[in-house]
Amino acid sequence: MVTRDASALDPRRIRELFDLRSEVYAARGGAFEGDIYPEFHRLRETGPVHPGIVGPLVGFHGDAFFPGLPYPELPHFSVFDYATCQAVLRDTETFASAPAIPGFENERSETVLLFMDGARHRRYRALVQPSFVPKQAGWWIDRWISSTVHMLIDTFEAAGRADLNVEFCAAIPLLTICGSFGVGAADALRIKAAATSDGRSPDAFVDIVMPIVAARRRDPQDDLISVLAQAEITDEDGERHTLTDEEILGFAFLLLTAGSGSTWKQMGITLLTLLTHPTWLEAVRADRALLRPAIDEAIRWTPTDPMFSRFARVDTTLREVAIPAGSVVHLCFGAANRDPARWERPDEFDPTRPAGPHLGFGGGPHICLGMHVARAEIHTAVSALLDRLPGLRLDSHAETPRVIGMYERGPSAVPVVWR
Ligand code: HEM
Repeated sequence: MVTRDASALDPRRIRELFDLRSEVYAARGGAFEGDIYPEFHRLRETGPVHPGIVGPLVGFHGDAFFPGLPYPELPHFSVFDYATCQAVLRDTETFASAPAIPGFENERSETVLLFMDGARHRRYRALVQPSFVPKQAGWWIDRWISSTVHMLIDTFEAAGRADLNVEFCAAIPLLTICGSFGVGAADALRIKAAATSDGRSPDAFVDIVMPIVAARRRDPQDDLISVLAQAEITDEDGERHTLTDEEILGFAFLLLTAGSGSTWKQMGITLLTLLTHPTWLEAVRADRALLRPAIDEAIRWTPTDPMFSRFARVDTTLREVAIPAGSVVHLCFGAANRDPARWERPDEFDPTRPAGPHLGFGGGPHICLGMHVARAEIHTAVSALLDRLPGLRLDSHAETPRVIGMYERGPSAVPVVWR
């Protein structure tokens, strides 16, 4: 039985690992504090396709945007409108998920779903997809999410105040995805540290995950790691085999990192958005049916992951800009999500606007595998806070919180009181 006791989480270590202004995130533009949206509008209106990388184009000259994926030798382009971003995401003949020219092969495209393409991507994604469909949301809520949410509220309820960013939003997705891998709270922070460092120092990760894989191969349980340990895949040559240790580790690493980081920041953004729009907070409190559209509107309005990239396989053009084969094409989902050609009053947070696809979870074949789990986590968490802490509001004595970060965006803090 894994320990999911919140007291096993060292609050000081959580604060270190989940602070966008810390050294680790600073290298990815975590400390960027400017208002990014006027620049996004300018770039869309004067482009929408520009040579260059999103950060420098908006005036941020910090370090690499993704560890291991900067490719300074290749030409870079950035796209700022909705229609072109969607077209690139869907055109997998022209745009690959990993560098598509000789000499720049990405070894992770063999084992990590995010960098696979075509039939291989479809086969590997199909292995885990059944655990992530909307009707499985209840499985996640009942097995991991709900108990974690209430356990955390128990730890701070009596205090009358909390920084929800660290004490709540950071822990829920981490404990949820770790729980589904049979990893207890004590090891969850070691997993987070291994994942945050740069994705290439997986020793602690392997030490924690591989013994669980071995145990689940012998004795499967009702959890996600058992799905991976038992999964069989058919190769290009028609042979069926269970996943190798390397394949399982590739999956596990992606799920544990994607499953904890983005949801932490997006949950914080959702809470901060509601807390700074008290009319909407009250509307959601009074009518919980509004919570689901409010969550999606927050993801449209301020997505935590404002950019992902693709790689041109051949010479092509995008909105009359020539894109040579081998180019890196950055899709600025943050700007696309406020494209006035698609949304009326795009800068307004309005949960009652007509629902429709946005790019907060990406699009095309790589659309976020975990989006229904993420929505279930945010929904369960916000709903429980509203039920259990009726006077919940921003702490007016704390430093004014704001959304910061360039390539990974999230709140500086979510300081609240409820007495
Ligand atoms: C609100 C929280 C989340 C946001 C905003 C988010 C965002 C995204 C985005 C934008 C992509 C597309 C990347 C691309 O096109 O290159 C993606 C892919 C992915 N996400 Fe999420 N994500 C979230 C939560 C989760 C969770 C909870 C999980 C797992 C439990 C997860 C697992 C994945 C995986 C495995 C992929 C790769 C899918 C593929 O390559 O086919 N994500 N996510």
